[in-house]
Amino acid sequence: MSRLHDLATPVLRLLDPEDAHRLTIAALRAGLGPRATASVDPILATSVAGLRLTNPIGLAAGFDKDAAAPGAMLRAGLGFVECGTTTPRPQSGNPRPRLFRLPADQAVINRMGFNNQGLEAFAVGLSARPPIGIVGANVGANKDSDDRAGDYGLGLRRLWTLADYFTLNVSSPNTPGLRDLQAKAALRELLDVVAETRASLKRAHGVDRPLFLKVAPDLGPGAVEDIVETAVAFGLDGLIVSNTTIERSPTLTGDHRRETGGLSGAPLFEPSTRMLARFYAAAGGRLVLIGAGGVGSGAQAYAKIRAGAAAVQLYTALVFQGPGLVTRIARDLAALLRADGFASVAAAVGTA
Ligand SMILES: Cc1cc2nc3c(=O)[nH]c(=O)nc-3n(C[C@H](O)[C@H](O)[C@H](O)COP(=O)(O)O)c2cc1C
Repeated sequence: MSRLHDLATPVLRLLDPEDAHRLTIAALRAGLGPRATASVDPILATSVAGLRLTNPIGLAAGFDKDAAAPGAMLRAGLGFVECGTTTPRPQSGNPRPRLFRLPADQAVINRMGFNNQGLEAFAVGLSARPPIGIVGANVGANKDSDDRAGDYGLGLRRLWTLADYFTLNVSSPNTPGLRDLQAKAALRELLDVVAETRASLKRAHGVDRPLFLKVAPDLGPGAVEDIVETAVAFGLDGLIVSNTTIERSPTLTGDHRRETGGLSGAPLFEPSTRMLARFYAAAGGRLVLIGAGGVGSGAQAYAKIRAGAAAVQLYTALVFQGPGLVTRIARDLAALLRADGFASVAAAVGTA
């Protein structure tokens, strides 16, 4: 991993956060991305819902919303990259500013609102990806859609042959009403449409794709069990736990802590990991879980795995620590597995 990229991180932090992000994506597209030089420790190789990963550390959705540079992030050492959220039609999202850094808290608040260039641009981006690694497509609904379930179906149809797996995002706090799709009746309706679409795509193309549902960390009593039972009933492969939180920890000190939106990063680690453990207990092995929320070290990746995650995803810690973080997490995770006598990631899942 080049020192240059880790040096670029503090410089980028001097810019408006969204400008810094645009610049980063442009640099990645131009082939200026970091390259992991360390070889991947074989103890980290793992399989998640049939996807063979060189390591269980993935890039969470929202970083590369239009699938502009999935190859570049795989080369940085990530085991898998999730692009999106993409919606059928392009949309501009909420007015700026809509992305806020809270450096003292190692956190970010965003209310982007699914700004993206739409499915066609996303499909072009995915078609241009190099033939390496695992790339997922995170699909959602347009804000002004009158058929939200249909929007998810459109995403699957357009991208079926281009993505290695799909995530149904029903947990962004920044599209009004989207999180209501997690309620039992609405979720059944959505997953009914999705299951039918999946079956017809499988018939038409002769290939199936793993399907995940991405959930919020802010769920009321009973919701975990309802989501698990519904997901199992409709044949989903797994869950991503979790998206950003609308809760605000009292420990936050950053100037922007009262901004509306979803909070991610360090303060999300504890609540999202507790939620992950609840899902793991409720699923009883019937669903694969991917843990996201506040991962910023090998120890935190390990804690998610021990709480029930077969793989993890991160985003916010990369903003503060730079892309060299990926190889540090991989190295430390491998050492932690060995220290506890585990021969593989899979052996450690849910052992907490
Ligand atoms: C700026 C920003 C944009 C995001 N956009 C999306 C998105 O479009 N779709 C999605 O499913 N999650 C999105 N997320 C949530 C992340 O994928 C992840 O679930 C969350 O940030 C927790 O991980 P972290 O603490 O490592 O960032 C976004 C997060 C951030 C910080």
